[in-house]
Amino acid sequence: MKVLIAYYSLYGHLQRMAEAVAEGAKEIKDAKVEIKRVPETLPESVLAQMGALEYQKSISHIPVCTVGELASADAIIFGTPTRFGNMCGQMRQFLDATGQLWAKGALVGKVGSVFTGSATQHGGQESTILSFHITLLHQGFVIVGLPYSFQGQMRIDEITGGSPYGASTIAGGRGERMPSENELAGARFQGKHVASIAARLFP
Ligand SMILES: Cc1cc2nc3c(=O)[nH]c(=O)nc-3n(C[C@H](O)[C@H](O)[C@H](O)COP(=O)(O)O)c2cc1C
Repeated sequence: MKVLIAYYSLYGHLQRMAEAVAEGAKEIKDAKVEIKRVPETLPESVLAQMGALEYQKSISHIPVCTVGELASADAIIFGTPTRFGNMCGQMRQFLDATGQLWAKGALVGKVGSVFTGSATQHGGQESTILSFHITLLHQGFVIVGLPYSFQGQMRIDEITGGSPYGASTIAGGRGERMPSENELAGARFQGKHVASIAARLFP
């Protein structure tokens, strides 16, 4: 049973979340877990203006996901930073290249799940995940979120991401906050939860 984590991260917050999702998915016996980033679409000059060039170069060893690879996974967990309450353009462009897969029904019945991050606490994490789900539904995915059995999302003693729609992290206005232990626990829970459902669907 194969779990693919396909994510985009400009400064590293979603990268850290993706690693935690993978850790959780690997807890399920016989799960083959892969982390891949979706292709960059911004030119280097823009990445430099955004202060992201150095980080982007540091992750150049992480394999880039191709659209064709989606068809060979049983579960796909997508990670995207919030952009104006929506998925990022890199992810949108990647998904917009899946028309051939849609035409063949190649993704129908696979397990799909989404995690995210944003600068601010109420900056659109839920809208990002829920609007992402629309694309997954068009492709025929069986959508899995982050159930309340992940009790960490009940916490009010500290600022935290995480909702029934999926794990998330709050990066801060200058990206100064990396995922907290509670947010990483949510990501691990989501990875394990998705993999456990995929294991039952694709024994
Ligand atoms: C063009 C742009 C739009 C953004 N829109 C939002 C937003 O709507 N709400 C928010 O809280 N953060 C927003 N952010 C902040 C990003 O979500 C944040 O930098 C990201 O989650 C950090 O994760 P990363 O390091 O993995 O890229 C935006 C950032 C950019 C560059």
